Order: sequence, then C-alpha cells, then structure tokens
Amino acid sequence: MEVVLLPTPEDCGRVVADAVVGSVLPALARGGPVVLGLATGSSPLLAYRELLRRHREEGLDLTGVQAFLLDEYVGLPAGHPESYREVIRRELTDALGLDPAVVHGPDGAAADPLQAARDYEQQLLAAGPVVVQVLGIGSNGHVGFNEPGSSLASRTRVKTLTEQTRADNARFFGGDVEAVPRHVITQGLGTILGAEHLVLVATGEGKAAAVAAAVEGPLTASCPGSVLQLHPHVTLVVDEAAGNRLERADHHRYVLAHKLASQGW
Ligand code: F6R
Repeated sequence: MEVVLLPTPEDCGRVVADAVVGSVLPALARGGPVVLGLATGSSPLLAYRELLRRHREEGLDLTGVQAFLLDEYVGLPAGHPESYREVIRRELTDALGLDPAVVHGPDGAAADPLQAARDYEQQLLAAGPVVVQVLGIGSNGHVGFNEPGSSLASRTRVKTLTEQTRADNARFFGGDVEAVPRHVITQGLGTILGAEHLVLVATGEGKAAAVAAAVEGPLTASCPGSVLQLHPHVTLVVDEAAGNRLERADHHRYVLAHKLASQGW
C-alpha cells in the first residue's frame, strides 16, 4: 500500500486527480469501455473539483467512461438531492459532460432493495473491471458502507448504517439525524477488491484513528478499511491531520520524497 502524506487537503485533491487520470486515460486510449468507480461524501470533493478544473482549463476529456457509484441510500426517492446519484451528478459528472446514462448506481428507490443490490453487483461485474475506484473512509473505519463487522469477502447488498454513521452524515440532511436513511445498498468489500486500483482519500483529524487502524492495524472486519491490505494496488492519500497517528509516517514521507518518476501512482 502506498501511503501519500501531504500537507493540505488541496494537495490530496491534486494527487487523487492525478491517480484517477493516470489510470483512466491510458485505459481510454486502449479503447473499449472504461469503468471509473466513484465515492460520494466530503472526502473526494476537492479531487472532483480538480478534475473539473482540468476539464475546463486543460481539456481533460473522460468521454467513454462508465461511472459506477459505491453505494446509495435505501428509501430516498429518485432525484432526492441527497441521493448519491444526484450528488455525483451535481458535484462531478454533469460538469464533466458525462451523459447521465453512463452514471450508474444502486437503485435505492426499488421496491425490492435486496434484489436491486444483487442486480447492481451483476451490472458492475458485466461492465468491469473497475479501472480505478475512489474511496473515502468513515470515522469508524467503514469503506463504502461496509460498517465494522462486515465480511471482508462481502458482495453488494443491503446494510444497516451505524448510529455513528447516521450522525456523521446528518450534516447533509440539515443536521437532522432522523432524516438520514437507516439502510443503504453498498458494494461489498469483496466487490471493491475487484477494482484494479484503489485510491482512498482521507483528510482531517477525525479520520486519523481509522486511517491508522486500516494501514497499520490487523486485518479485521472490525476495521473494514484494513481489507485494503489485501489489494495489490492501493494509493492512500492523506493530509497530515489524517495521517498523524501513523507510526511509519516518517518512512512514508521518505518514500514519497524518493519516488522514482517511473513509478507513477
Ligand atoms: C460514500 C462512502 C463512504 C464515505 C465515508 C466518508 O460513498 O462510501 O464510505 O466515503 O463515509 O465520508 P466523508 O468523506 O463524507 O467523510
């Protein structure tokens, strides 16, 4: 796992954008559909803004990408402003010029969410592999919405959010915890491991314990983020605040300072 410790969240956004572009553009150049995995939440927003800036100012063109979301709330009507499909449309894909038809997410409004989860897993397997998957991490170590205790081999399914996650996400619902759905459809940890490149971004002191547990703790369902230790190509991008509990922080800084140009992300 490559741990990239950077001074500011803005620096993290640039490196995440570099990593995404570095995986997606060569895949587009090879032809064929290219699947880009997207997370929602606050963590990737600066990276998404950087991708938009490059689109506007530098001609970055992601035409040909199929975007797949990590997760979706169950029970929000289609078009609800906090449904993840709407959030990603608003924050990224519309302004990138991607047709809504190439932006896919679990159907959280389906009458049968269990079946919708199975259908999404099949849709993703048929379209994949995911060339690069953007990830955040919850303050309790969740990845996607695989809360602590989730099987490390899990596939896309319905999960129940912890009260902590609902409280963390209440800020998107005007501070009203009760407005945050209790259930989600989320890619499983096994599903996420199927992506070719995982790029996890975490910023702020509130993520420091989860980052340290994921990187340096044991492989355990108690910290779902630790499953990243099993993946051969992980770029974990953290600012100094989110990395401040990493015992090997000095080594990570040293590795970054001496990175070979040919190593890429
Ligand atoms: C979002 C997702 C979640 C978030 C995590 C961190 O699609 O899957 O795992 O990445 O809850 O959320 P933020 O970035 O808002 O702190």
